[in-house]
Amino acid sequence: MSWSPSSWRDFPIKQQPIYQDASLLKSVEAELSSYPPLIFAGEARNLKEDLAKVGRGEAFLLQGGDCAESFSAFGATNIKNLFKLMLQMNMVLMYSSGKKVVKVGRVAGQFAKPRSGDFETKNGIELPSYRGDIVNDVAFTTESRIPNPKKLIKAYNQSAATMNLLRAFSRGGMADLNEVHRWNLDFIKDFPLGKKYEELSEKIDRAMKFMAACGINSKNTPQLHQTTVYTSHEALLLNYEEALTRKDSITNDWYDCSAHMLWIGDRTRDLGGAHVEYFRGIKNPIGCKVGPSMKEDELIQLIDALNPENEEGRLNLIVRMGADKVEDHFPVLLKKVKSEGKNVVWSCDPMHGNVEKSSSGFKTRDFDNILREVKQFFKIHESEGTVAGGIHLEMTGEDVTECTGSQSSAITADDLGDRYHTQCDPRLNANQALELSFMVSDTLRG
Ligand code: PEP
Ligand code: CO
Repeated sequence: MSWSPSSWRDFPIKQQPIYQDASLLKSVEAELSSYPPLIFAGEARNLKEDLAKVGRGEAFLLQGGDCAESFSAFGATNIKNLFKLMLQMNMVLMYSSGKKVVKVGRVAGQFAKPRSGDFETKNGIELPSYRGDIVNDVAFTTESRIPNPKKLIKAYNQSAATMNLLRAFSRGGMADLNEVHRWNLDFIKDFPLGKKYEELSEKIDRAMKFMAACGINSKNTPQLHQTTVYTSHEALLLNYEEALTRKDSITNDWYDCSAHMLWIGDRTRDLGGAHVEYFRGIKNPIGCKVGPSMKEDELIQLIDALNPENEEGRLNLIVRMGADKVEDHFPVLLKKVKSEGKNVVWSCDPMHGNVEKSSSGFKTRDFDNILREVKQFFKIHESEGTVAGGIHLEMTGEDVTECTGSQSSAITADDLGDRYHTQCDPRLNANQALELSFMVSDTLRG
């Protein structure tokens, strides 16, 4: 049972690239091991405490961001718009629930993608699959699809710069509650949704004025001026994660310092596999995706492997069944986990079970299915008397056309080609994400 940051190497592993130049890979891993960590272990402990609150129903978890971050879309505007969108959603959810919202971005490290097949075929030509910008290139050419170890370094650097800007926005005044009006993204202002958000902003403004009259303002109360956005990604490439695994000097525990929270994907959560082996040894709060193939006993064994001390806030089960399957598959799992007395944080990923091919040929998701899955997730928890802790979304602060439906955007299959920018899975645009937040906030209030 001994563990080390590299003990996963003795276990079967899935979804890894095969590099041609082994010595280059080794030197890249060594270089990454010498770089500074991207987070401090104390921050990961703070997130664990926040997630413990989520598990008890005292806070709500909002996790979201790109399916896959890309090197080409890297820039301040994208990061700022995601940050503003998260603040808007935070406001909507917090105002209705009266609870703290724990904000976790799929950001600053969300590069590596598991794929359903090792190869992709277009017009009769077969090439290795795209595995995320940290591995190879999305362009459909032989050259582009060759995995390049140097991309690990580029991903680290982009993560560091992204994290830096997020920290600056969080601490520097962008999140000040007197700025709620300014978080409204330009293209949202024109929609009824923008108006709805403005109405909410007015109420918050009045509350702020009232508090200022009582002597509580953002100068003397940092909570009104600052916020925290944690980072997370799927820890798929274990050599990258290993290189950033560091021993905390305060506790002597191992932390994966590439992000505050890491999760295991639905395709790599095998009990005897390398990913579970790696995750059991790090002390960060962690997530595990739970798809329709998960069995009750398997889930209990996974929980025991990943959270043997039944620690609150340690393990987030991210349920991603699909709108048509959640009612059949989820209640049995939930009952089992409840009856065994396991402390977990339940959240709903209504994205990954609802992928479809549109009539126009694009990979898409329909807003109605996304909403339906979220609603059922809440209903199932309500009937079990358990806590629906949060939502996990693929979303962007940009005005893209990747998912169909919703009242605010009314994107049809024919519109998908207009601004279909994702590197991987279709994301909710800012309108759709905000609309979903209003729906969830109604449920939380109800
Ligand atoms: C993802 O979150 O991008 C993903 C691939 O999810 P899953 O492992 O649930 O399929
Ligand atoms: Co995805």
